[in-house]
Amino acid sequence: MKSILFVCLGNICRSPIAEGIARHLIEQGDHNIHVDSAGTGYWHIGETPCAHSVQVASNHNVDISTLRARQVTKADFSAFDLIVALDQSNYHDLKAMGCTNLIKLGDYGYEGADVPDPYFFKGFEGFENVYSMIESCVKELLKR
Ligand code: 4NP
Repeated sequence: MKSILFVCLGNICRSPIAEGIARHLIEQGDHNIHVDSAGTGYWHIGETPCAHSVQVASNHNVDISTLRARQVTKADFSAFDLIVALDQSNYHDLKAMGCTNLIKLGDYGYEGADVPDPYFFKGFEGFENVYSMIESCVKELLKR
């Protein structure tokens, strides 16, 4: 079975959305792929995704409320076929840890753009844009 790990900074806003969308699409389609997510940082280990991410996913019938944040480890680089960074800073940090099976999500239809970090957004506005960018890129990634 193929496996994909989505990685952002905190594993509470962006990568849980990517994991939830990918799992949802995999369940609906005929892919047989294991997905997970993690953060490069340790601050939010054990926490559920942020309320706005849970809300925006729920608006699209994707339940991410039971996910728990964890920090990426070097063991993940061999455990997963593909490591997917949500932005350039995550990409850089993963590369510095020695990750080679690494891609950037924005390379799948968004010309390499970063998925904006919504952690410092004021309010819910903006999460829909982040959601639709992640959804579009994850669809393209699974298609390829
Ligand atoms: P995420 O967002 O990387 O999309 O989960 C963030 C979450 C937490 C922090 C930064 C970004 N933080 O600095 O704690």
